[in-house]
Amino acid sequence: MKSSNSSVLFGKKLLIGISGSIAAYKIPELVRLFIKSGAEVKVIMTKSSQDFVSPLTISTLSLNEVVCDFVDPKKNTWINHVELANWADLFLIVPASANTISKMAHGLCDNILLATFLSSTLPIFCAPAMDRDMYLNQSTSDNLDIIRSRGVQILDAEKGELASGLFGKGRMQDVNTVFSNIENFFLKQNLLNGKKILVTAGPTYEKIDPVRFIGNFSSGKMGCELAKKGAEMGAEIDLVIGPSNYNISHPLINKINILSADEMFEICSEKFKMADIAIFAAAVSDFKPAEYSKQKIKEKSIVINTKKNKDIVKLLSAKKDKQFVVGFALESNNETTNAINKLKTKNMDLIVLNSLNDNNSCFQSDKNKVRIIDNNLSIKDFPLMSKNDVAEEIFNQILINQTFIELFKSIKK
Ligand code: C5P
Repeated sequence: MKSSNSSVLFGKKLLIGISGSIAAYKIPELVRLFIKSGAEVKVIMTKSSQDFVSPLTISTLSLNEVVCDFVDPKKNTWINHVELANWADLFLIVPASANTISKMAHGLCDNILLATFLSSTLPIFCAPAMDRDMYLNQSTSDNLDIIRSRGVQILDAEKGELASGLFGKGRMQDVNTVFSNIENFFLKQNLLNGKKILVTAGPTYEKIDPVRFIGNFSSGKMGCELAKKGAEMGAEIDLVIGPSNYNISHPLINKINILSADEMFEICSEKFKMADIAIFAAAVSDFKPAEYSKQKIKEKSIVINTKKNKDIVKLLSAKKDKQFVVGFALESNNETTNAINKLKTKNMDLIVLNSLNDNNSCFQSDKNKVRIIDNNLSIKDFPLMSKNDVAEEIFNQILINQTFIELFKSIKK
């Protein structure tokens, strides 16, 4: 097979894990595409995946022996899964069955694919494939959320005809799409190498007394997805985040937990100075109680006097020198006009507008529908997308922004 040295995959080392789903029959084609692009491919197969595709087919196409167990029966030697786990530039689990995803989420380790997964510090991608109702089952979504929050990138299943005859979501991403996603990862990997990004996320809690606070429903997901995307592009991230159940971990993400807007302001003031890009995705509480009661308030009915919190983005952006500033707006009426005013008064370079009139979008949701407005007042609308895709789109818009390109040139020097 002739390989191309013009592909971004040329010379890349790819570790592929195949688990037991009917979609495993498509993996020889994927392996062929990777080899054709000049990548080096090693494959691990679970026992049940071998019912759907033969190790001989995979080893022939991958030009490497396939790993199926902890021991190599032919050589009577132990396979070093730790070495394997860190041999590659990327680990792709494709197809990922409900069983394998569940084990990945809960740390089970009863085959060499899982042992390798647990030992790996590589960027990990996972392409789920299963029947519709298994995919829709709450435990599967929870397991996907768990591994996603630990940094595994999910190549979301597609809607289509399933092996069971049902129609719906659960079909493994088309192999060409999987291939493009992996190619894209490498294309973008070093685009923001060495850059520093400040991201704010989540709500803030403004204490009334030791047990009560003023807060809001923000989950912190959007900011976390932005932090993750930036890190995947090689940037060092300071993620300043209010109370959130959304966990994120990546070697390039420095997560700083805060509670109140004042604490967020303090940390951001320090981090902003070093930042090349600052993304203010936090839903900062506009108000805080005028006074904090050290004792739990006992009255049946209380009146809370409030005072305004510092506007973090406005105060910092007024002092910006090299920073490219992105803000968010959540509006219920005159959305675009209000967002444009915000962009101007808060000295932002880009604003991401969420509308409270969109159902299924924004707070607490995995999805978001946004309008992005830049400093030339050009407006772009996007469909309802996962927050991961919205984060990708925000970075796309940053990277093509003329102000950013100019700043980027001077930062590069
Ligand atoms: O004025 P509004 O709260 O709608 O502005 C939203 C934008 O300003 C968001 O980017 C948010 O993170 C930021 N903000 C802030 N500090 C505040 C309030 C909002 O940084 N006190």
